[in-house]
Amino acid sequence: MINIFDNCYVLETKNTTYAMRVLKSGHIEHLYYGPHITIREEKDAEALIGKCVFNPGNTLIYDDENPISLENMCLEISSNGKGDLREPFVEIIHSDGSRTSDFLFESVKILDEKPVYETLPTAYDDGSKTTAPLQTLEIVLRDKNYNIRLITYFTVFYDTDVITRQNILINDSDENIRVSRLMSMQLDLDRDDFVFTTFNGAWAREMGRNDIKVRSGKHINSSMTGTSSNRANPFVMISRDSTNESKGGCYGFNLVYSGNHYECMEVNSFRQSRLVCGINPETFEYILGKGEKLEAPEAVMTFSIGGYGGMSLNMHEFVREHIVRGTHKYKDRPILLNSWEACYFNINERKLLNLAKKGAEVGIELFVMDDGWFGDRSDDTKALGDWDPDLNKLPGGLKGIANKVNALGLQFGIWVEPEMVNENSNLYKKHPEWTMSIPGKGHSKGRNQMLLDLTNEHVQNFIINKMTEVFSSANIAYVKWDMNRIASDFFSQSMGAMGQGEMPHRYVLGLYRVMKELTERFPDILFEGCASGGNRFDLGILCYFPQIWASDNTDAISRGTIQTGYSYGYPMSVIGAHVSGSPNHQTLRRTPLETRFNVASFGILGYECNLCDATADELSAIKEQIALYKKLRPMMQWGSFYRGRCFNSETEPELLEWTVVSKDKKNAVSLLLQRMVTPNMPMRKIFIRGLLPDVRYTLTNRELKYSIKEFGDLVNTVSPIHIKQNSAALSAIDKVYKMNGEKERITGYGDTFMSFGVNLKQGFIGTGYNEEVAHFQDYGSRLYLIDSEE
Ligand code: DGJ
Repeated sequence: MINIFDNCYVLETKNTTYAMRVLKSGHIEHLYYGPHITIREEKDAEALIGKCVFNPGNTLIYDDENPISLENMCLEISSNGKGDLREPFVEIIHSDGSRTSDFLFESVKILDEKPVYETLPTAYDDGSKTTAPLQTLEIVLRDKNYNIRLITYFTVFYDTDVITRQNILINDSDENIRVSRLMSMQLDLDRDDFVFTTFNGAWAREMGRNDIKVRSGKHINSSMTGTSSNRANPFVMISRDSTNESKGGCYGFNLVYSGNHYECMEVNSFRQSRLVCGINPETFEYILGKGEKLEAPEAVMTFSIGGYGGMSLNMHEFVREHIVRGTHKYKDRPILLNSWEACYFNINERKLLNLAKKGAEVGIELFVMDDGWFGDRSDDTKALGDWDPDLNKLPGGLKGIANKVNALGLQFGIWVEPEMVNENSNLYKKHPEWTMSIPGKGHSKGRNQMLLDLTNEHVQNFIINKMTEVFSSANIAYVKWDMNRIASDFFSQSMGAMGQGEMPHRYVLGLYRVMKELTERFPDILFEGCASGGNRFDLGILCYFPQIWASDNTDAISRGTIQTGYSYGYPMSVIGAHVSGSPNHQTLRRTPLETRFNVASFGILGYECNLCDATADELSAIKEQIALYKKLRPMMQWGSFYRGRCFNSETEPELLEWTVVSKDKKNAVSLLLQRMVTPNMPMRKIFIRGLLPDVRYTLTNRELKYSIKEFGDLVNTVSPIHIKQNSAALSAIDKVYKMNGEKERITGYGDTFMSFGVNLKQGFIGTGYNEEVAHFQDYGSRLYLIDSEE
């Protein structure tokens, strides 16, 4: 809901309020963003207005008629040169060389729709789930000294407690201007006691949470990789010291963008905090000629008084309902088997079909042929760009293998990396000028490959046409779209010297054009984004591809942290997660098969291991896992996700808890995962979240059986005969006899399960073992099923 009360504009979502007003000077003052407050007319906002009459010493007075100091105010749009010394929202170099901008109010109106960008993807509302009609506040500002327009739009997504912001800069003057910064959002808050949280990492170590108390100066979270990056995700949070998972104020912010981004949290000398988010100005310059416009990526903002967890629920619903689109928006995702960690580049039709056959036997629904199927691709030094099947490996081409996989009852999917080229490829020989490189100068390589220049329309058309040929050459149900290097040598051979500063942003625009065209041509294909795992995990990609491979690290323990990190800003329905072999290929850590499944099932479940080498026990365990997941799938993929203790509790730093709850809250599944055993701690407890307090539930565990080999030579304490470790006798007994794991069946009300938690059967502490004791070892985990009595 949006109200204009004279000079005061108030935006309301279900539980939040955002307020601003136009000053006499024409600047837009930010008044409030937080829990819902009542403003029914302009005077109700009086308490929010700053009461400074005499400006602080050594600050600037804006002008004689408006003796305000912009340095000491909360604003919606800031710029350089008029006394506000903080991070600007917009920076322009005018044709006379001046860098001063001063955007003042021109007009305002309420729209009953949301602006659609010409160049960038945006959030949308099809109205099917919303209780309040979509509204947008449009404010037009114009530079006082130059004929440049800035239109800023605030759209209210009432039910999800999200407000988005879009900005368009239009050059109405006759001169060229150089835009060196156009942010997507600015939030000024009149206090300095916030915690700024960012999610940082590296390849195989994405989304580590970092909290920093910004008390003065700046903290910057940004990407320079050409992508949204695994170093710094564009999703960030602001909260208070006292905020926790379920209580306290928490703001969440994200960008609908896949390129270099920038989020800066600053505290000024007057204890005011400012957050700006947008395209990274360090790698950005854009020339706007007469009449030309520039669109800034849409910014997404939410607030919850229900802690990090409340904020995450808002973001999850927003991403599911207003970002992801198309055929697969709410379609259950198939359980896939990917060939990469089973075969790497060493694939051929026979090997792949053997793998697919084993997959079909255990219940897999989609078989994905990863890298290695095209050109002369026997390793990562060659063939990217040559997208014709290698007929030595696939004698019947894509169609041949797709039909055979389909005949096994499975859907068929492939891997592609269309944005790249190897120098050792036919494409490079034909079009060296299509690469991102500076002619005549050496260039850097990542994974032996170069980026294609997606700013060039010929390159975009080549990718669109070639991929259209590939995708229509067989019955392809799924495509994994990979991107395995970061950008360097930013240079487009199709643009003049003046335009080179636009290259990083224009690359992203070119990519969006390609993705839009292909997803429109192939609406039924399920696309999964990937960039060496999570090097481009963002809302821009999710506007086209409904899911993203979260990390090349498939180790369940690492994934506990990585998936927890993603869960702050992204729902489980967009996070690809696979069960892989043990020892793990990225960490060499050995983890139980059940733990690998338990963690991967809190995401879009897949398998990525050599099922042909699996033992009969492993295959039957996998079959059971898949059968269970199929039963739970609607809840696991579309339910509400809650974090509990996630390796961050002061008393239990080794434990991680996740819960997913069905839409009607009648059913839930919880995971308890342990890193290292704490010796001699018999008490075990789990806290469930998201249940209805006054409903009675029963908690049961997924019952497991254990190999006696798990107990080493302790078996001799109960065995009538002495059994040697690694002996044939031990293997023979193990084949026919398995130990029963503990059985849990506990009934109680939702409020008990949530506030006290549930005391579970004790763990093994070295003083005895029977079926009342949980075998809960290093890297052990359990799934608990919680069902209401109704
Ligand atoms: C990197 C991806 O993240 C992997 O899953 C795999 O697809 C390889 N690329 C293939 O080259």
